[in-house]
Amino acid sequence: MADKEKCGDRQTSMVRKRYDRVAPVYELLTPRAVWFSNQWRQKVWEETSGKVLEVGIGTGKNIPYYPDNIEITAIDLSEKMLQKAKQRAQKTNKDIKMHIMDVTNMDFPDSFFDTAVATFVFSSVPDPVAGLREVNRVLRPGARLVMLEYSQPRRQMQIYLRKFTDFVGSIIYGPFNKIRAEQLYMAGFENVREEKLRPRVAKLVIASKPGKEL
Ligand SMILES: C[S@@+](CC[C@H](N)C(=O)[O-])C[C@H]1O[C@@H](n2cnc3c(N)ncnc32)[C@H](O)[C@@H]1O
Repeated sequence: MADKEKCGDRQTSMVRKRYDRVAPVYELLTPRAVWFSNQWRQKVWEETSGKVLEVGIGTGKNIPYYPDNIEITAIDLSEKMLQKAKQRAQKTNKDIKMHIMDVTNMDFPDSFFDTAVATFVFSSVPDPVAGLREVNRVLRPGARLVMLEYSQPRRQMQIYLRKFTDFVGSIIYGPFNKIRAEQLYMAGFENVREEKLRPRVAKLVIASKPGKEL
């Protein structure tokens, strides 16, 4: 399939294969805190407007939170995850354009989207800065990227638990990155803002592409 051939290097195709394999049981494997993350997802989608790109839609857990007044395009590396998202979308009246695509090599023109969203995606992208740079390219000047990412816990018990879940996660999904604000700046974003979410396992990250809002 032409779409898949664009999904590049060896590490990226390993990530794709792992998500293809895990797609049927993905939601059962989702950490408990992420499963109960409804209010986080709600917060993310309140920040969106206009033409929105969802990167790494997965099984479509964000679909129930899409506001009615946005135009949504979603991508994912894994065909099997995307199939699950399509099934979920069919149960709604939402019109979502979905494509198999690698975030580090997207087919969209420059400055095409008004907002980009990625929830728990960049931790499994082998070269997150390359992916973030590509998101920056397809956003119009002044537009925002809104993300949920894993945050560093503070309590000792949570740190141990996180080490364990990261280890199990890396066996299932492959290498696991911690996304830091510097990486967003390196990718060309500015005004990076991070907000810790409760329970303290995740953070909301908002960054903008430099330039004037049109
Ligand atoms: C942990 S899941 C998160 C799914 C969904 N965003 C959520 O919040 O439940 C990560 C998703 O990102 C996708 N993904 C990983 N690397 C990607 C890449 N390079 N380009 C596009 N999608 C990617 C995976 O296939 C998977 O569906």
